[in-house]
Amino acid sequence: MNVRPMRVDDLMGMQACNLQNLPENYTMRYYLYHAMTWPSLSYVAEDYKGRIVGYILAKMEEDLKEGEEPHGHVTSLSVLRSYRRLGLAKKLMVQSQEAMKNMYNASYISLHVRKSNRAALGLYKDTLGFSVKGVEKAYYADGEDAYAMHLPLRKDS
Ligand SMILES: CC(C)(COP(=O)(O)OP(=O)(O)OC[C@H]1O[C@@H](n2cnc3c(N)ncnc32)[C@H](O)[C@@H]1OP(=O)(O)O)[C@@H](O)C(=O)NCCC(=O)NCCS
Repeated sequence: MNVRPMRVDDLMGMQACNLQNLPENYTMRYYLYHAMTWPSLSYVAEDYKGRIVGYILAKMEEDLKEGEEPHGHVTSLSVLRSYRRLGLAKKLMVQSQEAMKNMYNASYISLHVRKSNRAALGLYKDTLGFSVKGVEKAYYADGEDAYAMHLPLRKDS
């Protein structure tokens, strides 16, 4: 399994992976926007045949409120079922985090996760060290609440 930066010709594979794994789906235009604007923040995991089996789609936050520091945001992350528990999501997250910190001087990384998503919460909290910053009520289209999570990327943040 190979984890590498996303290319524009990966976008269809990433979207297919997203559709299989998550109810939150995005237009191709939105994928393309990530690829064109922050090409170093999104990564894919591919199998030996070059098929996309996992991805992270990430960006820098654009609408900063007053006093808010530049920070990265994970738009979407998923790994195909038969490739889980191999450390791929962790690798994808770490690669993106490093690029956010080193290329954009991000002070932290933010994301949302369903309250019921045990696997993702295990990854974010236990493996990567994220903490819960708050709960966003009915954040998802089906009414489920989200945890807003943060991970500091710099010592001073
Ligand atoms: C969440 C998800 C991305 C994890 O992908 P993965 O490649 O299997 O994760 P990793 O192998 O890197 O796991 C790293 C750690 O996360 C935690 N973890 C992963 N899956 C877990 C599970 N099912 N239950 C509990 N903890 C889990 C573990 O601590 C794991 O470390 P370990 O295997 O040494 O115990 C994957 O389950 C997935 O695609 N789920 C559907 C989409 C989704 O929920 N995306 C996140 C939206 S916020």
